[in-house]
Amino acid sequence: RCCLWPSSLFLSEFILSFPELFAKKCCFELGSGVGLVGVCLNHVGASKVILTDGDASTLTNMKANMEMNNLHIEDSQLVKESKNKVECKYLSWEEACESDLRDYQRDIVLGADIIYNPSCVPHLVRVLCMLLRGDDGRHESVNAATNGEIGDEVSGTTATGGPVAYIATVIRNADTFNCFAKAAADAKLSVVNITSSAAPSSFLPYMISYDRSSVQLLKITLLS
Ligand SMILES: C[S@@+](CC[C@H](N)C(=O)[O-])C[C@H]1O[C@@H](n2cnc3c(N)ncnc32)[C@H](O)[C@@H]1O
Ligand SMILES: *[C@@H]1O[C@H](CO)[C@@H](O)[C@H](O)[C@H]1NC(C)=O
Repeated sequence: RCCLWPSSLFLSEFILSFPELFAKKCCFELGSGVGLVGVCLNHVGASKVILTDGDASTLTNMKANMEMNNLHIEDSQLVKESKNKVECKYLSWEEACESDLRDYQRDIVLGADIIYNPSCVPHLVRVLCMLLRGDDGRHESVNAATNGEIGDEVSGTTATGGPVAYIATVIRNADTFNCFAKAAADAKLSVVNITSSAAPSSFLPYMISYDRSSVQLLKITLLS
């Protein structure tokens, strides 16, 4: 869908508020929509940005948006060589398999408003597990030590140094959210609500239609 959802505004503000969490990190987003999160990640100096979506026309629009910002790059080899560019990739959660993800190193997985369709939830959880496990054997974690200014809850590290996911969400339907929470727990994912500790600064005061209080931020890691 080609519009901006409050969750992506909140996630963008979170990225701009804690740039050190994302600088020099490989970032991989699910359900990127228009791609605003990618622009912010590039802005704070992420070493690689991979945006994905499972809708072909959304992906075309996303690429056009990245081109307008001089950020779009077609070839994954070029992404590896040139810093600060954004790759847009087709990724459907239903179809995704390990081999689709093997070439994408990731320290941080992101998502904004991707928990809303109960029939997608099991697939989304499966993809999150694959991304957080990084068990394609290629993942090299480069997580920096916890920055003193940021509470441990928010920090982009896990005890094992594995990838971390930040998912911003608006809970429109409690049943759908509970379905996600249960599927995540069954899959041995730890889901921590960091909404209040993350408290991003307001970078988008001119977005008057954006109700930040409706958005929650979850930090998700693999329970080892
Ligand atoms: C509500 S929009 C959010 C877009 C953007 N992250 C934002 O917050 O503005 C959900 C996005 O997830 C994508 N999506 C939904 N189901 C998906 C699936 N099963 N596989 C891949 N992408 C999916 C949609 O195409 C859409 O772009
Ligand atoms: C997460 O925390 C926020 C703020 O502390 C709270 O309003 C919200 O209900 C919590 N959400 C969940 C799913 O626990």
